[in-house]
Amino acid sequence: MHEIRINTSGDKAGCYRELLPQIRSLIEGEPDMTADLANVAAALKEAFGFFWVGFYLVKNAVGTDGGKELVLGPFQGPVACTRIGYGRGVCGSAWKSGKSIVVEDVEKFPGHIACSSLSRSEVVVPLIVRGRDVVGVLDIDSAEVGTFDEVDRQFLEELCGIICRIIWECEK
Ligand code: SME
Repeated sequence: MHEIRINTSGDKAGCYRELLPQIRSLIEGEPDMTADLANVAAALKEAFGFFWVGFYLVKNAVGTDGGKELVLGPFQGPVACTRIGYGRGVCGSAWKSGKSIVVEDVEKFPGHIACSSLSRSEVVVPLIVRGRDVVGVLDIDSAEVGTFDEVDRQFLEELCGIICRIIWECEK
């Protein structure tokens, strides 16, 4: 049986510290990418109750010859935009720069793509394989302004490192 157990009376950093090893053990024995990313999204949603948690993966763009775009992957939450161009919105910007982006208020991020009018703040962390290739992004949305800060960035980057090593670099 797989269950996520978090001591919710702890602070945010404490919750991440409890959650990350549990996510690692959830995914390290399972080589299927879809199953792993789906469980990571579910674990984050369950632990923190975020409005939307999911992955966009770099895939072939429709109707282009060799072009790439972000395509919606496993997620938890309301239906979302399916395709996002390079450099577009928060997700496309994180893909382009290879850097995480914490958005305190989505209305103040030029070019933010509103999949839901209820989303008010956001954090996007790129999935970087072998220190080089961005293969996708982790996107988390909150229904409140100012939910995410450097603590989220730090632990979500650590989590994305674990995910990339297990799924794309086949760490066992
Ligand atoms: N807001 C994102 C789009 C994805 S949804 O939030 C799920 C963006 O600006 O890239």
